[in-house]
Amino acid sequence: MAERDFLTLLDFERAELDEILALAERLKGDLRAGRSAAPLRGRVLGLVFHKPSLRTRLSFEVGMRQLGGDALYITDAEVGFGKRESIEDIGRVLSRFLDGIMIRTFAQGEVARLAAAASVPVINGLTDWVHPCQVLCDLFTLREQGLELDGLKIAYVGDGNNLANSWMHAALAFALDLRLACPAGYDPDLASFARVGGGGRGRVRLFRDAREAVDGAQVVYTDTWTSMGQEAEAARRRAVFPPLQVNERLLGAAAPGALVMHCLPAHRGEEITDEVIDGPRSIVYDQAENRLHGQKGILLHCLGARG
Ligand code: CP
Ligand code: NVA
Repeated sequence: MAERDFLTLLDFERAELDEILALAERLKGDLRAGRSAAPLRGRVLGLVFHKPSLRTRLSFEVGMRQLGGDALYITDAEVGFGKRESIEDIGRVLSRFLDGIMIRTFAQGEVARLAAAASVPVINGLTDWVHPCQVLCDLFTLREQGLELDGLKIAYVGDGNNLANSWMHAALAFALDLRLACPAGYDPDLASFARVGGGGRGRVRLFRDAREAVDGAQVVYTDTWTSMGQEAEAARRRAVFPPLQVNERLLGAAAPGALVMHCLPAHRGEEITDEVIDGPRSIVYDQAENRLHGQKGILLHCLGARG
């Protein structure tokens, strides 16, 4: 199988994403049944982090080990991306040691430059623009809940950030009925918005009012109001976003039995209440666990092993 980068969901057709989801389902079943195989034996994934992480680091490290390979955590403090040496030279050198590179950083352009220079697959573990691993794993979680993705009514309530953008990209591939509620001045990527509206299979609408977006939704998704790298804006954001809090009252507008999702880390009492995140509709810890299974699917697919 050919090796493949995983930089944005926009690079993938539905059929290929379905293949990854099917792999993830099989791998989760194998793990649960105690069946082990080592399809990535002898392979090492580099994990480059320019921002903090709990789930992404853990899921890639544990995932590689469960697949028979290994992972190596690489910090910018040592490597000095674009400062100590160029991104291109780093990509070329990392490719001489590693079988794949996962990178979490700020600019999508840096990930694209790294991928262009590297001869091994590069996986995007979050940029300011997108978080494709998260959203693919979330689609896995939704299927696991028995939901049909085609036409799924999902409301994303909050900042027009990397999660909102990857959800728009998912809407394009999976024909989701996506309703975004974002305050004025905090819109998602409007180029992606136009792309979904302009002939994709999915549908995306942008609201200012959270209740309008959530009306009849089968899934309500939220994320932090202040993403990594925006800490200086936190106070201003805390003043703008409270009408978009996901609480019991807002959930009253959703479809009966609607599910609640959050990629975590959560800021309880801000974008989501304790009552909701700890309540019966919340599937946030399934989401966290499924980062492991979904990304094992991505690893096997992108590193060119079938398992
Ligand atoms: N959801 C997510 O990516 O979590 P981390 O930032 O902890 O990796
Ligand atoms: N939007 C958040 C997601 C964290 C997983 C951030 O970028 O910080």
